[in-house]
Amino acid sequence: MKALVLAGGSGTRLRPLSHAIPKQLIPVAGKPVLVHCLENIAAIGVTEVGIIVGDRGDEMRAVLGDGSALGLRITYIRQLAPLGLAHCVQLAQDFLGDDDFVMYLGDNILAGDGISGIAAEFAEYRPAAHILLTKVANPREYGVAELDGHGRVVALAEKPAQPRSDLALTGVYFFTRAIHQAVRAISPSARGELEITDAIAWLLADGQRIRATQFHGYWKDTGKIDDLLECHRVLMGHRRGDVRGSVDAVSLVSGDVVVEPGAQIIESIVTGPAVIGAGSVVRGSRIGPYTALGSGCTLVDAGIEHSIVLDGVSVQNVRGIYGSLIGREAAVCSAVDDGHRRLVIGDHSTVEVA
Ligand code: G1P
Repeated sequence: MKALVLAGGSGTRLRPLSHAIPKQLIPVAGKPVLVHCLENIAAIGVTEVGIIVGDRGDEMRAVLGDGSALGLRITYIRQLAPLGLAHCVQLAQDFLGDDDFVMYLGDNILAGDGISGIAAEFAEYRPAAHILLTKVANPREYGVAELDGHGRVVALAEKPAQPRSDLALTGVYFFTRAIHQAVRAISPSARGELEITDAIAWLLADGQRIRATQFHGYWKDTGKIDDLLECHRVLMGHRRGDVRGSVDAVSLVSGDVVVEPGAQIIESIVTGPAVIGAGSVVRGSRIGPYTALGSGCTLVDAGIEHSIVLDGVSVQNVRGIYGSLIGREAAVCSAVDDGHRRLVIGDHSTVEVA
């Protein structure tokens, strides 16, 4: 059994962050989205992982390397243009060979038990395709499956105008080698992509067995900033505290707080769940809950909660920061009191001023 992780998407809906960092590497609860995905794969005992990358492959390689830190062996496979999920399977055919595999979209977050339940079910029945479904409020935005009264898949459609159910395909699929014939047989969709949903529908029409499992845990496709922040809140709730940095005697640290090595908390209040990244300095500040600081941040007289703060950020004399995402090396400080607000903001940024 192998894994194929799709991480070629460019993340246009996550601008401005995705200008500087591929969306799959944005940290959620202190870890890149892609690492959450690879941990779920490692947890089912798969070690051979192919990652489909676009033009940000070098940045992924710099973070994940050969995968050994996660107990994996990673092969990077370059996709030159975003031609669809089924196109990724075509590209990976040499890597996959005749093996069964799990395909996992690298921007999807599944909390809780991860994929162990569906993996065990797939291993037992080995259908041509095994899909993981979840109820959504907006099925038009996803691949949608229709089931009969016995829970069997009877139809599949990609982003249907008139959905026949509210069961969306999540970005986790298990396949046998039967999928290779299907991805070669289909034609591009209206958006010009080879859709994996169409390939699975082809298998169904061909009379092959398709199985579906409903996922009842938390699932999200992290395409938008608000989705990322929501995932962050959910996954922070699963992190356990671990203090390895220093906390001075007057600071108050409560709840599950991770203080990474070299981090310093001085005269501050940190309320978990929270992560204070390696080497960050927090002084006279109030951090958390649901807040993760990257490494090398400096917070002085700051107040921040429900937020994701990337590496090297400085926040000085600004309190009341909430539900925010602050990119690498950004500086947030209070205005010089001359009635002006000075903003130096990158492309596609959003700033709300009270
Ligand atoms: C893709 C799939 C869709 C699936 C979704 C899950 O959509 O095509 O069937 O429901 O991922 O995240 P996309 O993100 O390409 O719009």
